[in-house]
Amino acid sequence: MTDQELLAAADAATARAYAPYSDFHVGCALLTRDGRVIEGVNVENAVYPLGVCAERTAFSRAVAEGYRPGDFAVAAITASPCGGCRQWLHEMGVDRVVFRNGGRVVTMTPAELLPEPFDSSQFR
Ligand code: THU
Repeated sequence: MTDQELLAAADAATARAYAPYSDFHVGCALLTRDGRVIEGVNVENAVYPLGVCAERTAFSRAVAEGYRPGDFAVAAITASPCGGCRQWLHEMGVDRVVFRNGGRVVTMTPAELLPEPFDSSQFR
């Protein structure tokens, strides 16, 4: 599975987003180290702050299936990840993140997306 194919899976997933308030449909496709693709979409709510980003639904789905931080090779996202999702990408330890930003496709590491991050090493 190439990064381009993974991003195409994220693109296709946007059709299943539940985003009636923003009408901004986001898809995320995770490639696990054992070769699975796990997709997520943004899920909004009438109480706006309760909405969940596509990245977090994808990771939550993966964790519920037994995956853990370190089990992910690539995350492909149809939008530039928000600040909170950058923290999730850091926590989950993906190798690289491929995302659309305007007309461009950008590839960055979680460390590039979130320098000097907060993590459990600060309190453990
Ligand atoms: N959104 C995501 O799903 N992921 C991001 O990283 C950026 C923002 C969603 C949240 C909300 O449903 C919509 O995009 C508009 O902010």
